[in-house]
Amino acid sequence: MCGIIGILGNTPAVPRMMEALKRLEYRGYDSAGVATVEDGTLGRRRAPGKLANLEATLKADPLGGMAGIGHTRWATHGSPTEANAHPHMTGRVAIVHNGIIENFRPLKDELLKAGVTFEGETDTEVVARLLTRYLDEGLAPRDAFHKTLSRLEGAFALCVLIAGEDDLMFGAREGSPLVVGLGDGENYLGSDAMALAGLSSKLIYLEEGDWAELSRESVQVYDAAGAPVKRPVTLSQVAATMVDKGNYRHFMQKEIFEQPTVVAQTLGRYLDPNSGTVTLPDMPFDLAGVNKVTLVACGTSYYAALVARYWIEKIARVPVEVDIASEFRYRAPVYQKDGLAIFISQSGETADTLAALRHAKAAGQHIAVLVNVMGSTMAREADVALPIYAGPEVGVASTKAFTCQLAVLAAFAIKLGAAHGLVDAAQEAAYIAELEQTPKLMAQVLHADGKMADIARQIAPARDILFVGRGIQFPIAMEGALKLKEISYIHAEGYAAGELKHGPIALIDETVPVIGLAPNDGLIDKTMSNLQEIMARGGRVVLISDNAEDEEGLLDRFPMPSAGELVAPILYAIPVQLLAYYTAVEKGTDVDQPRNLAKSVTVE
Ligand code: F6R
Repeated sequence: MCGIIGILGNTPAVPRMMEALKRLEYRGYDSAGVATVEDGTLGRRRAPGKLANLEATLKADPLGGMAGIGHTRWATHGSPTEANAHPHMTGRVAIVHNGIIENFRPLKDELLKAGVTFEGETDTEVVARLLTRYLDEGLAPRDAFHKTLSRLEGAFALCVLIAGEDDLMFGAREGSPLVVGLGDGENYLGSDAMALAGLSSKLIYLEEGDWAELSRESVQVYDAAGAPVKRPVTLSQVAATMVDKGNYRHFMQKEIFEQPTVVAQTLGRYLDPNSGTVTLPDMPFDLAGVNKVTLVACGTSYYAALVARYWIEKIARVPVEVDIASEFRYRAPVYQKDGLAIFISQSGETADTLAALRHAKAAGQHIAVLVNVMGSTMAREADVALPIYAGPEVGVASTKAFTCQLAVLAAFAIKLGAAHGLVDAAQEAAYIAELEQTPKLMAQVLHADGKMADIARQIAPARDILFVGRGIQFPIAMEGALKLKEISYIHAEGYAAGELKHGPIALIDETVPVIGLAPNDGLIDKTMSNLQEIMARGGRVVLISDNAEDEEGLLDRFPMPSAGELVAPILYAIPVQLLAYYTAVEKGTDVDQPRNLAKSVTVE
């Protein structure tokens, strides 16, 4: 969602901030702005829409200064207009803000009564006016900022410049991440490591309630009470080159094609083919005692959880419950003593998943997370974090994070089965040998991408598309439908193939293509019968299968290599990703930043 950059530098801030804001585009946004302080005076430029609009504004009306704050805004309250874009300014302060100030109405009423006037309706302006009031009352900037923070309720990250202060910047974190970057005679603030890639690799992740005072030569972090605290300096894993499309046309395409490499890396961290064993990070609880697993996530990560349910129940015979995070805590979930709750989140910041995590933690469950960002809030609040090692995922539609999540979940299922005495050494080694084939088979599937581009051309004119699969392919069908609707804007749904005749088959005619996922497993005959039922009603079926038999009457087929049940869902994720990608390219949509979507969804 919204992105923040703050630079206290020694060269003009605007071009560097624009670079950083470009790196933050992946989070999704609909307006942007920058402010600087130059010779004590604050200046600001903002524009609705893409960064190109802000660039045009800056070209027509340049902004100097070596200290600046910048923001990409994903509208929550208030439309994406220039007036609502950040930074928000009074004569004395400029502020960018992620998140929501929940008590902004009473604060605004208080300020109105005191004679303060407002330009707009936003909660951010209330923060700017409050800080200005405390400065006007004569408080020193540090005290004024701390007093302002002490009045705010909600989840937010803030970055602030003050008029007359060319060597001062404040940042604060409460529920929304903020990172300090340490430079040489310069310092920075960013909403994530990606914002700071290319500026600094030495990062301080602020903790909940922390705030920071930056000059070019120093950084002091304070806790919520205002006491100076030391937070560890971590080395960023995000190099500026990782945030580069290379030879690919889109980040999503690059990330789809990276999958054999990143999945191999992930498997390499969790599997030891020499000893034939799975290694997980140290668990602060006994896996053998885990008698129930609760999996909670949103979107694509939720579909990874659905796949994991098949594996865990089959391999470890432990009951599994799977929930969408935004629903989880509203249905009085029944926890069991010694239950393990696993939260799956690429970003580690998704608000609904984080709230569900806190719910399960308060109920005394063991808490594990699967995250791609080890400095994330979820990683820090969990009992144990299992990194997925996908590397930065820039395309808004998740691809490589999904297959890396699956790789880690497969390893986890094996380990849980071993801990429960259901997977002996020979079986564990056999599972590992099976998983070790994954990268090679993924590369084989990607090699046929030209075929998927052909299929995409055939289905692109459709208004509705169905994806069907059975068993472990059912979640992949839903993932395929989600990918397609996200980036091509074609309405798509994923169904269990056997469920179609209970209603959705009424939709079938020659205008609704159906994508059938049918690996040659124990369910293929049933899936093929369901596809026949569709074709008998004039439906046009694209078959994705390793079944060599030539089915009559298909619209097209995409051949797959054969694979076992641990590898098949990972493999079948690729053709549905490719189909979504090429369909979106065919339709000319914005593949990496689809409309209305944000990468890291930090509002509930
Ligand atoms: C879809 C997609 C989203 C995310 C969801 C959860 O392509 O990317 O559905 O999977 O917003 O995000 P994380 O995994 O960061 O919690």
